[in-house]
Amino acid sequence: MPIRQVTLPSGDTVPALGQGTWKMGESPARRADEVRALRLGIELGMMLIDTAEMYASGGAEEVVCEAIEGQRDGLFIVSKVLPENASRAGTIAACERSLKRLGTDRIDLYLLHWPGRHAIADTVAAFETLRRDGKIGQWGVSNFDTADMAELVAVEGGGHVATNQVLYNLTRRGPEHDLMVWQAARHIPLMAYSPVEQGRLAKHRALESIAQKHGVSVAQVALAFTLLRDDVISIPKATAPDHVRDNRAAADLRLDAADRAALDRAFPPPRGATPLEMI
Ligand SMILES: NC(=O)c1ccc[n+]([C@@H]2O[C@H](COP(=O)([O-])OP(=O)(O)OC[C@H]3O[C@@H](n4cnc5c(N)ncnc54)[C@H](OP(=O)(O)O)[C@@H]3O)[C@@H](O)[C@H]2O)c1
Repeated sequence: MPIRQVTLPSGDTVPALGQGTWKMGESPARRADEVRALRLGIELGMMLIDTAEMYASGGAEEVVCEAIEGQRDGLFIVSKVLPENASRAGTIAACERSLKRLGTDRIDLYLLHWPGRHAIADTVAAFETLRRDGKIGQWGVSNFDTADMAELVAVEGGGHVATNQVLYNLTRRGPEHDLMVWQAARHIPLMAYSPVEQGRLAKHRALESIAQKHGVSVAQVALAFTLLRDDVISIPKATAPDHVRDNRAAADLRLDAADRAALDRAFPPPRGATPLEMI
């Protein structure tokens, strides 16, 4: 079964399940395994790869470069500028450095990693310049709460935001209360990071009976939860080949109404506004 697609405001579509790269590129001893894991994920159809200039200070982008060599077409590469670099000139310079490390001439989606000290209007102006110059396909943000999003769309060009990448999983359902409602009303998909809570949800006992019922792993249930909505893109990171295969198969898992009710009992949805959490 092909991975379901999510439509971005531009009309472009991306697979609902991608691959994360945080912690990759930190150790030369693990590099070959990391490249192999990303290549396996691509073979299995996880064509969206999320990285950032922050990860291993550029090392993760270099791992991505090696993994995508000779197969750039059809992939959707996401990278991020650090807030400290996100001035008008700094964003453009950071993007040029990321392009070089990634070995590509275009980043498909370029995000501001989290809100920082530079005026958002300046970062957006730089993003729009990069877009016009073809260096990036589109741009978005990360770790923006509802008020940050409202401020963003009020600046010139801010309405072109393609996504907001935030911490979202069964143990971090806060965004459901207002951020996801706000974004859904504007057709801005959410990108869920740490969808298995950095591995912790892969061992959660509350998920065992649902996993047994479907004959899948606990991690797959956690991932399938993030994929329940048609406006969420989930980006688990995995270096172990078994984890990569497991994650890909989670896109085919259909949680039924009874499963969803059991998940709501074990991980209650938010009752009120909750400040956005970050890892
Ligand atoms: N924008 C932001 O501020 C931000 C913050 C955090 C993360 N992110 C992005 O989101 C991506 C994902 O988040 P994350 O890396 O923090 O956490 P995650 O994807 O929730 O968890 C990754 C951890 O879970 C393990 N794992 C993955 N699949 C598994 C499976 N099927 N069964 C058991 N264990 C499994 C991995 O092990 P192995 O690696 O050993 O296979 C790894 O230790 C990041 O890599 C990054 O690209 C963005």
